[in-house]
Amino acid sequence: MTHSADHLHVTTPGGSYEVVVAHGALDHLPERLRHAGIRGAAWIISDDQVFPRYAPALIERLRAAGYTAHGYAVPAGETSKDLSVVARLYDWLIGNSVERRDVVLALGGGVVGDLAGFVAATVLRGIALVHLPTTLLAMVDSAIGGKTGVNHPLGKNLIGAFHQPRLTLADTATLATLPPRELRAGWAEVIKHAVIRDADLFVHLEAIADPSALRGEALAAVIRRAARVKIDIVNSDERETGERMLLNYGHTLGHAIEAACGYGDLLHGEAVAIGMHLEALIAHRLGMVEAGFVERQQRLLRAYGLPTDLPPGMPVDDLIERTLRDKKVRAGRVRWALPQRIGAATVRDDVPETVVRAVLEKATEG
Ligand SMILES: NC(=O)c1ccc[n+]([C@@H]2O[C@H](COP(=O)([O-])OP(=O)(O)OC[C@H]3O[C@@H](n4cnc5c(N)ncnc54)[C@H](O)[C@@H]3O)[C@@H](O)[C@H]2O)c1
Repeated sequence: MTHSADHLHVTTPGGSYEVVVAHGALDHLPERLRHAGIRGAAWIISDDQVFPRYAPALIERLRAAGYTAHGYAVPAGETSKDLSVVARLYDWLIGNSVERRDVVLALGGGVVGDLAGFVAATVLRGIALVHLPTTLLAMVDSAIGGKTGVNHPLGKNLIGAFHQPRLTLADTATLATLPPRELRAGWAEVIKHAVIRDADLFVHLEAIADPSALRGEALAAVIRRAARVKIDIVNSDERETGERMLLNYGHTLGHAIEAACGYGDLLHGEAVAIGMHLEALIAHRLGMVEAGFVERQQRLLRAYGLPTDLPPGMPVDDLIERTLRDKKVRAGRVRWALPQRIGAATVRDDVPETVVRAVLEKATEG
């Protein structure tokens, strides 16, 4: 891989900012904030797994640099993406006299990023946000692009706002404490980015003998490269009209599988890995890719510890029904992001249900 600079840039109508991915990046947080023009108080929002590990040192570092710094830990897990938690965070911020010039620092995975991002987007009609992602998924995906939000009892991510951060600072050293299963789930998004847009990254990933042993700059370089795919797509399509749909590869069936299993059994990334395999099979049936493509992608997913088989007992009708309820359905047609070759994908809204059904029925035969 030739890309070595640790600076990436997002430029959208909603805001421009740097994405820094580096080992030890949090050591330089105060300087980075200053560089981003942020002078106000820092309000760290994190969860109860991440906060004790990383927030105390950050608060100390910020204060030593002259910043006022406060911290709040929500319970870890998806259930914190809820309006009741948003309300508690408003109480905390407003009760402690948050000001327009202040900044919310979202320290954690995608849950914290989405929740704290939504709070930053709405409190005082919007204050600055800085993402400090600590999961692989957040580093390559959720901390880039400006989507924030919480869940509604009727569905995930139904309440939210676009709010671009002023800076995303990913310290890959934090991944050392991430539970291994969470790390593996994050690799699914990295592999997805390689498949849809970056053939060199795919080849690089194939050459890594033991992904769990990657550390330091070697790990940061891979993550930077995968983040760049999301950045390139966001730069060309902030609001998910065209190209951003490609990021949905593996997610149409992935979301359906996740929901059918009941959230919690499979991690999101694991469901996406299965979804990518099944959607590759759909692309193959449509004549878009060779059988060799499907096998090569499956080999890579497995090498990164990810599942590609449907869990037993998945009801095909239920999965199909759920794909039709997907947010990305337009005028009754499911829009599928499907691969064309390693490094390229396209959106298709003309996939016959019979093809989807045939792939799912074969997959459930075992
Ligand atoms: N906004 C977007 O564009 C976007 C994109 C993709 C996903 N998401 C959202 O992201 C969420 C999933 O994010 P996630 O997979 O990062 O899950 P997560 O935030 O729940 O983190 C996973 C678990 O790891 C723990 N953890 C995080 N970092 C750690 C660290 N460094 N050390 C030890 N433990 C750590 C957390 O406490 C949590 O228990 C979902 O809610 C999804 O909707 C948003």
